[in-house]
Amino acid sequence: MNTTNTGKMQYHFSILALLSIFFFFIRVGFADDTTVKFDENYVITWGNDHVLSLNQDTEIQLSMDKSSGAGFGSKLSYGTGFFNMRMKLPDKDSAGVVTAYYLTSKGKKHDELDFEFLGNREGKPISLQTNVFAGGVGNREQRVILWFDPSADFHNYRILWNQHQIVFYVDDIPIRVFKNNTNIGVGYPSQAMKIEVSLWDGDSWATDGGQTKINWSMAPFKAHFQGFDISGCPKTDSNNNNNNNEDCFLPKHWWNSEKYWTLDSKQKTDLKNVRKKNMNYDYCSDRNRYPVSPPECLINS
Ligand SMILES: *[C@@H]1O[C@H](CO)[C@@H](O)[C@H](O)[C@H]1NC(C)=O
Ligand SMILES: *[C@@H]1O[C@H](CO)[C@@H](O)[C@H](O)[C@H]1NC(C)=O
Repeated sequence: MNTTNTGKMQYHFSILALLSIFFFFIRVGFADDTTVKFDENYVITWGNDHVLSLNQDTEIQLSMDKSSGAGFGSKLSYGTGFFNMRMKLPDKDSAGVVTAYYLTSKGKKHDELDFEFLGNREGKPISLQTNVFAGGVGNREQRVILWFDPSADFHNYRILWNQHQIVFYVDDIPIRVFKNNTNIGVGYPSQAMKIEVSLWDGDSWATDGGQTKINWSMAPFKAHFQGFDISGCPKTDSNNNNNNNEDCFLPKHWWNSEKYWTLDSKQKTDLKNVRKKNMNYDYCSDRNRYPVSPPECLINS
């Protein structure tokens, strides 16, 4: 082998080494870690015998039949974060079946951030409802019909929560923003929240306002979950006076950095498109419920 070839090989080798380092960081930095085991961060909260662990505990199946649904939740509570769950919803006829992924605090004046999938008859679209509670005040429902069938495959559902904004994402598309508008008197979640996931019977309200019922001959209904790593700032919820909240606002947590204070211009365009093409209910424009648009509505859209 002459020296030119050896030189070339070394050159190729270092390019390869650089590329693998590069892709390693891409993986660590941006990809969703689906290798974390369920037990590391989560526990089953109800319906034990309707929970199945798959793929070396990196995937969970919840099922629901007439006897029970099921749920799981994070071991810890969090004060800020960028939360993610990979979900695949019950397929075929899932009318009346609700699959929920949400953050919630305890107590009467609780804070809550919801993703709720409202099942439907086979061939009819599943609605994705989001809601925001702050200090016990909710009634801020929005609903979208997704641009894909959420029962066909796994997708990422994310909630960004920092001092500046709360953003609900489907994969990388923002579908809702709730800004910190405390300066005009609008509540903003500030209490320690746990991550909760559940599959339950919502047929009193979920599909066509409760008129379309669960077809129990289609049971059991099954939903699948992956991605049990958690990017959040752990916070104790033993005290409700928020005096350990400060740490969770520090920029050492990447979701608190300036990049995450507002949407960038692509995200703004994406959000606008979702609102135009996919949103089929918005409390902000429901004049029967709110003769006057709630104060946050103008700013958040
Ligand atoms: C909301 O924003 C104000 C500043 O306008 C800030 O002082 C406060 O900590 C924020 N609240 C939360 C819960 O992030
Ligand atoms: C419920 O499912 C069964 C079995 O697929 C079907 O025969 C029946 O028509 C369904 N009922 C409704 C109300 O869709």
